Amino acid sequence: MTGLQLARYDGASAKGMADELVDVYAEVYDVPPYREDPFFSVASYADRLHAAFGMRGFETVTARRNGELVGYVHGVTLPPDRSWWVSLAEQRPDGLLGAAEREDIFWLRELMVRPACARQGVGRRLHDAIIAGRGESVTALTCITDNEPAHGIYLRWGYTIMGRIKHAPESPVYDAMYRPAGRTVAPRPLLPGSSCP
Ligand SMILES: CC(C)(COP(=O)(O)OP(=O)(O)OC[C@H]1O[C@@H](n2cnc3c(N)ncnc32)[C@H](O)[C@@H]1OP(=O)(O)O)[C@@H](O)C(=O)NCCC(=O)NCCS
Repeated sequence: MTGLQLARYDGASAKGMADELVDVYAEVYDVPPYREDPFFSVASYADRLHAAFGMRGFETVTARRNGELVGYVHGVTLPPDRSWWVSLAEQRPDGLLGAAEREDIFWLRELMVRPACARQGVGRRLHDAIIAGRGESVTALTCITDNEPAHGIYLRWGYTIMGRIKHAPESPVYDAMYRPAGRTVAPRPLLPGSSCP
């Protein structure tokens, strides 16, 4: 997509645009089955986001077009005692336990693009940009097992499923995935859409 500006922020600087970040979430997740699910409410997301700002290694990369936020990605250095990570137990591949202890895993927590700007390569650029700037040697993420197109996208982008987790008793089931930093997949050219700002 032409005219897309990407920018990177740490937790302290991202706090100043928290409302804008939450507004994009509210638009992207205003679809079934998320709309009716309290786990995905805008208020609970806002709480998770504000908690994430203070976590070690927090970073977000935003995408703007004509000044308007059209999508973003954010993540943190994976805390080795995070419950979803611990719950994977022996499903974690050899080498990743040590990487987590060394704080060498980037946990990509959220990636979202406003519907009017989807399928134009924004998600891919955000994903690649945040990882390109990270020092960790592995990226890990969790994706709801039936959340398409995201689930299929991550597999195409070279992620491997290591097991299934829940983030809370009331959350859906997620596949936990990982990808070594060096494993990349060439992007396909996508056509620009007319309704994106
Ligand atoms: C997942 C998401 C971020 C993708 O953003 P996007 O800007 O549309 O993605 P891109 O245009 O960069 O396309 C990425 C890939 O997905 C494919 N794709 C995108 N939307 C698709 C769709 N609706 N159906 C099938 N394939 C799709 C593209 O063809 C492209 O394939 P490639 O990488 O193999 O070339 C976006 O769909 C979204 O915000 N979803 C809701 C939030 C979400 O589920 N986030 C992930 C949480 S784990």
